[in-house]
Amino acid sequence: MPALALLGGPKTKRKPFPVWPQFDELERHAVTEVLESRVWWRTPGTKTLEFERAFAKFHGAPHGIAITNGTAALEVVVAALGVGPGDEVIVPNFTFVATASAVLMAGALPVLVDVRPETHCIDPDLAEAAITPRTKAIIAVHMGGHPADLTRLCEIAARHNILLVEDCAHAHASEWQGQRVGTFGAAGTFSFQSSKLMTAGEGGIIITRDDKVERQARSVHDCGRMPGEWFYSHFINGSNYRLSEWQGAVLSAQLTRLDSQTALRHKNARTLDRLLGAIEGITPQRLDPRCTRNGSYAYIFHVDPKVFTNASTEQFIKAMNAEGIPNQASYPPLHKLAVFQTGAYRERLSGAQKTEKHAFLQQEFPVTHQAAWESVWIPQPALLGDEEDMQEIAAAIQKIRDNQAAAAEGLSSGNSTRQ
Ligand SMILES: Cc1ncc(COP(=O)(O)O)c(C=O)c1O
Repeated sequence: MPALALLGGPKTKRKPFPVWPQFDELERHAVTEVLESRVWWRTPGTKTLEFERAFAKFHGAPHGIAITNGTAALEVVVAALGVGPGDEVIVPNFTFVATASAVLMAGALPVLVDVRPETHCIDPDLAEAAITPRTKAIIAVHMGGHPADLTRLCEIAARHNILLVEDCAHAHASEWQGQRVGTFGAAGTFSFQSSKLMTAGEGGIIITRDDKVERQARSVHDCGRMPGEWFYSHFINGSNYRLSEWQGAVLSAQLTRLDSQTALRHKNARTLDRLLGAIEGITPQRLDPRCTRNGSYAYIFHVDPKVFTNASTEQFIKAMNAEGIPNQASYPPLHKLAVFQTGAYRERLSGAQKTEKHAFLQQEFPVTHQAAWESVWIPQPALLGDEEDMQEIAAAIQKIRDNQAAAAEGLSSGNSTRQ
């Protein structure tokens, strides 16, 4: 049995994974074209406009509004939907902070609920139970690319007359029953930050099928302007969230590869489901049969601490990285973040909400806890590899599994600093 790379043995991974971001002559030409045109600003330009139309169309939405980043896209949507002080928005506790901070930026309270164990997406039953007369919206996050249960969420939102927003930061091109994400609720938001499935370094977009939401969101993102009106007239509260022409042009080039890259990631992820599912103690994120395509921002799996008894998740991750397999931990539970624990989040609230008790801070979130501290993510570029790459990922995990008793010392030295 070869020794772990962490303990001086040979690395499992021999040939390198594909690099990210990917580009070719398309991006090179796109950047040069914008440079030479001297039109670098979105307002008179055509590149960002063309990109937002193409991206929206790809997902089956008539409208797209390119935004500076995915966090800002959520902020613009929340503002455009009229969420404000006194309102509540239901958000999964297991997500990147932006999903909740965008609600706080509007002066409203994000109400945190637990997620489903199979997918790590918001639990629709818990979301419904959290609805109060103050609830304006639910923001679902498609974790790692896997859509939340959009059938249930749409039904709940309609029955309670509240809005559904999809945070699709991980889920470009993902599908639920053949329909692309971002088109189920009032709006969907995406990120183009550098680790995402398409990138311009930074960037974001809102897509929507609702003409009124489009009008409001476009105005909020452009200083409260309205189409066809004088440049210095400002009708509603807004700010400058416009994306540059450089980014719009690069993103159009990136979009040409999204479909084939998604198909490849989806296929490789199914190979990993088979290979990793056969390793004792490893449970891959389940693919709901209604998820007809998973954009796969990450390949997510649970590492059972009862089986991998000698390795904390942190040590498992170190051992995998040493074997040449990039992998990482995911988000801590939002309610454990300092901004919630110290009460700093209350600075954004007003009226009764500022001082009243927020029950979710006292709650247990068992599934989020497990997702945060016992699951491992393999970032998406690895899923652009070939069959041999997938075999090597599985071999590295099997090696850690086989070695863990013998290597107890190397794997378990050092206490976890994450919990
Ligand atoms: C779930 C989720 N929502 C929103 C965002 C925010 O996107 P951005 O980094 O472009 O601001 C991210 C970014 O990682 C994310 O993971």
